[in-house]
Amino acid sequence: MRKPARIAPSILAADFARLGEEVHRIEGETDILHVDVMDGHFVPNISLGVPVVASLRKTTSLYLDCHLMTTNPADYLAEFAAAGSDLVTVHIEAVPDPSLVAADARAAGLDFGLVLNPATPFDAVAPFVEMCDMLLVMSVQPGFGGQAFMPEVLPKVEAARKLVDSRGLPTDIQIDGGITPETAPPARRAGADVFVAGSAIFRADDPVAAMAALRAAIESAE
Ligand code: DX5
Ligand code: ZN
Repeated sequence: MRKPARIAPSILAADFARLGEEVHRIEGETDILHVDVMDGHFVPNISLGVPVVASLRKTTSLYLDCHLMTTNPADYLAEFAAAGSDLVTVHIEAVPDPSLVAADARAAGLDFGLVLNPATPFDAVAPFVEMCDMLLVMSVQPGFGGQAFMPEVLPKVEAARKLVDSRGLPTDIQIDGGITPETAPPARRAGADVFVAGSAIFRADDPVAAMAALRAAIESAE
């Protein structure tokens, strides 16, 4: 029995001046919010950081899924935890041996996950899947919203699904980048559980209707 699919709206595409309103608008449609943290070093863009997470925590009870596109994620775990993050995902390209980072995240009270860039093979994370609550397969180059989905990453989602199922792990498989009602169904068939979507939700005229359309497309793939 597959886990029900979940949609994680990415606030990167929201209007930051009206962030609370934007989050409240979609709050009834999901239980998880994706927060893209970019440091201008690991990726060529700067987005937001700990103070925004703290403000979000005051305004929503959604599970705050913080995707750290940063060079030194280990240095900031305590700050993200104190700000109210629920989960941090860190890039395997930034922390080639993530065992210590995972332990530190847990000690700080955080759930933990690993992220794979499009060019990074699944083998890079395979030894560490057991320590992950979430495994995120990027379906665009990290750094920017609004890019086109890369279907060539789907074999990695399949490999992740196979490993998670064969070991009976609770790890969620997340896909992030270019998710729309057209691209989500093949990702669902490949094995994704959690669908990050920024532009498709927050750039739509009606974000709630956009989430419903995305959910219907995913369910039609099952
Ligand atoms: C990209 C981020 C994504 C981004 C997705 O680096 O990790 O979460 O917000 O945006 P869309 O859905 O517009 O591709
Ligand atoms: Zn992201």
